[in-house]
Amino acid sequence: MSRPSILATHPLFPEARTILDAHCDVEYWSRPERPSRAEFLKQVAAKDGLVCLLTEKIDKEMLATAPKLRIAANVAVGFDNISVPDCTARKVAVTNTPGVLDETTADFAWTLLMCVARRVGEGEALARSGEWAGWNLDQLCGGDVWGKTLGVIGFGRIGRAVARRSTGFKMKVIYTDAVRAAEEAEREVGAKFVDMDTLLREADFVSVHVPLMAETRHLISADRLKKMKRTAYLVNTARGPVVDNEALYQALKAGTIAGAALDVHEHEPTVHAGLITLKNVVLEPHLASASIETRTRMAVMAAENLTAFFAGKRPPNILNPEVLG
Ligand code: GLV
Repeated sequence: MSRPSILATHPLFPEARTILDAHCDVEYWSRPERPSRAEFLKQVAAKDGLVCLLTEKIDKEMLATAPKLRIAANVAVGFDNISVPDCTARKVAVTNTPGVLDETTADFAWTLLMCVARRVGEGEALARSGEWAGWNLDQLCGGDVWGKTLGVIGFGRIGRAVARRSTGFKMKVIYTDAVRAAEEAEREVGAKFVDMDTLLREADFVSVHVPLMAETRHLISADRLKKMKRTAYLVNTARGPVVDNEALYQALKAGTIAGAALDVHEHEPTVHAGLITLKNVVLEPHLASASIETRTRMAVMAAENLTAFFAGKRPPNILNPEVLG
């Protein structure tokens, strides 16, 4: 086949461009803002392949406008932006970037956990305000982290990496998932399997690590928030819609739980208007995997998936292998 014609919806990093440019003719989206839907549809229309971010929706409409498309390589581990069944029906391969962002994401979940418990945002604002009147015994007291119980919802690679980091804090770790992990995986991080209600009842920190699917939309609902301790904190680095943001806002306002830290939001890039007004919330703009090293690895992985496909090989991270001849 002649060199495939590719759209990359981001300039990517030089390491990834080198791989792509060696094998493909690539049009890179180079403006700092993300392409609008109309711009995206126009640019992808005549392409054989796509390297996309999680901001691009790959659905029936998009697939219909790109009849030559054979692969969509997502630069993300989560792929809820892509309708895999629609891609499979159209014989379009889909790949993601699992494994390379686990530790970086776990670092950030811990950053959020520490920030919300120890009121780092409020402290920073006070230190910068010029209004700090000096040390005081009860100033911005938060909740202890060490010695508490960490509850991990979703015990995949990232959930386990989060659990593993708790050892230095002398924490008890409990987790829940659709299926119980192997004993060895539990032992490695000292985690105990419990059901969802037990986790919500016992955890001082609830950290969410499930993919977004129909079954996990609003997994953290008003009812489940009510089951948490009044002194507990919620951390979400998974996907925004896994937590009912309005219910969370009401729970935080009512003191149902002590605080929350969100890296991801239900309607990105909009952040819940009520949550913005609350002091006991840490809000970040979807940054958990955002280290230079990890984002570079993700882009390289997507480039390798795409070039493997056009070389007639099995892309290492294919999500729908049934489309391969
Ligand atoms: C980021 O959110 C990812 O899914 O990689």
